[in-house]
Amino acid sequence: MTETKPKAAKPGAAPKPRPVVRLREGATIKDLSDRLKIRPRDLSDKLATKGYTLGPNDAITDALAASLAKDLAIALEIIPIEEALRREAEARTSEITSRPPVVTIMGHVDHGKTTLLDAIRQSNLVGRESGGITQHIGAYRVTFNQRAITFIDTPGHEAFTQLRARGAKVTDIVILVIAADEGIMPQTREAINHAKAAGVPLLIAINKIDKPEGNADQVKRELQKDGILVEEWGGDTISVEISAKEKKNIPEVLEMILLLTDVLEPKANPKVPAQGVVLEARLDTKKGPLATVIVQNGTLKTGDAFLSGTTYGRVRALSDESGALLKTAGPSTPVEILGYAAVPQAGDLFQVLPSVEESRAIAERRAGRVSKGEPAKPAALSLDDLFRKVEGGEVKDLPLVVKADVQGSVEVLAGLLPSLSSDKVQVKIVHAATGPVNESDVLLASSTKAIILGYNVKSLPKIDELANKEAVEIRTYKIIYQISDDIKKAIAGMLEPVIKETFLGRAQVRKIFRIPRVGTIAGCYVQEGKISRNAEIRVVRGGTVVHRGKIGSLKHLKENVTEAKSGYECGIALANFKDVEEGDLIEAFVTEKVSAV
Ligand code: GTP
Ligand code: MG
Repeated sequence: MTETKPKAAKPGAAPKPRPVVRLREGATIKDLSDRLKIRPRDLSDKLATKGYTLGPNDAITDALAASLAKDLAIALEIIPIEEALRREAEARTSEITSRPPVVTIMGHVDHGKTTLLDAIRQSNLVGRESGGITQHIGAYRVTFNQRAITFIDTPGHEAFTQLRARGAKVTDIVILVIAADEGIMPQTREAINHAKAAGVPLLIAINKIDKPEGNADQVKRELQKDGILVEEWGGDTISVEISAKEKKNIPEVLEMILLLTDVLEPKANPKVPAQGVVLEARLDTKKGPLATVIVQNGTLKTGDAFLSGTTYGRVRALSDESGALLKTAGPSTPVEILGYAAVPQAGDLFQVLPSVEESRAIAERRAGRVSKGEPAKPAALSLDDLFRKVEGGEVKDLPLVVKADVQGSVEVLAGLLPSLSSDKVQVKIVHAATGPVNESDVLLASSTKAIILGYNVKSLPKIDELANKEAVEIRTYKIIYQISDDIKKAIAGMLEPVIKETFLGRAQVRKIFRIPRVGTIAGCYVQEGKISRNAEIRVVRGGTVVHRGKIGSLKHLKENVTEAKSGYECGIALANFKDVEEGDLIEAFVTEKVSAV
């Protein structure tokens, strides 16, 4: 074997494991000093020698953590506050009790999802007797046999996976609606794979059995071909034959949900500060921002202060799907919340915190990070960095979403790719189908950290944009063996990156300014081309690249500017890097992915 090209690291230098210090988001320098068992003063002094001016109450942001970790020779990990509190809630095992199941309905276009939801809603809506007019809030509860079931009212697997892509697991059971006259269709298969990827059990509703051309057995045969065996045929997937339109066998569907619930035994801790997920949100012209949140742990009360994504608030009113005001809402209850400072996004987490001030502080820090263009979440896997992660012991699975122009190619690829697995990397096909790369593929890839491989298919600019946002890699090919070649090379660490770089300009650092609470600003003179605010940069010192990254802010005099041209002076603050020195060269460039063909 020949050596691979030398990387930035010294050859032969094995990375030393560094002690890991985990801090909860919002933790301060004082919290860090407690963990390191150093006096806060001593830590501040030590950091001052490295160019930081930080007081004991300064919060540690992700960027600061990355930079501190280097200077303190530790691995500093910031745990999102919701995750930290979720772990706490789960650890308090004596408080955990069962909760109602949360159900999502999926299926191909026109197979009857909405009709089924309506049939269920009409027959059993909670609070119907209270005379309230039902309003659309994104979810509702029904009672059947004196037990509650929560339905998420935004059918479709895109919505489901959108939530998952943003880190939220909401659904316990997926009802897959399949029309008996059409059988398994592309979106049926997508739904199956989305549910499978999420590890959520399926309940099959074979719909439209009132139609003479409906053939339930044919549907079951098709399911079997897709690896799903229904119970009557000796498998373990429950199926019910229904007519949503004629409201036939709807109680059976509800019964089966409860049966499955008895097996799954969904649980929650109702005693902790409430936590949940935003299902829908909108701006009401009269009431202001409104959001439907499904409570997952804890019990939400009016007056509670909360954090939600990059916004926050205090619960002013809670209402259910019939518009009735609630004082409290426990696990699996969907509620509309009045009291948000701004409209959150579907999929944002919801977390009650001790005070509005604390919630606001975290929300604003997050919002600042988003506006600086830093990713809100870690990037998904890319083929280029696969090997590095394999070496670091990080990756065991290489999940792939495969799209091709014709079914024959899909089958070839679905058979070929898993066979390329090595003892270190298991190639797994999350989803394989014909057609162009679509939104559902990107969301599925995002939530499963998969790479999308397209064979003889294109992705639309809109999809590329979404993929960018979700940090999902799409690679397109025109020759099958190049796909297998690339996968093999990536696993072996020999993949040539297909990144094209375009040089924009170069600036020389003339003076360093260290400004408390702002950070390090490099006063620069643009020697050549231009420096753009959104460009990628590298810092070159004595001919060696000492840092690669992004620009945090770009100013001319005191103004923020989008670019600085040759012959002009500018102030550059680099994101996540403060060790810039006088005489360094800052080179700006843009990279673009070039198709492997
Ligand atoms: P999208 O939201 O567009 O994906 O469709 P959907 O899955 O929500 O289907 P929808 O409930 O809108 O139903 C589509 C069509 O099928 C409508 O015309 C329904 O009336 C009809 N339909 C739904 N269920 C049944 C059924 O059990 N029997 C018959 N005959 N028609 C049905
Ligand atoms: Mg519908």
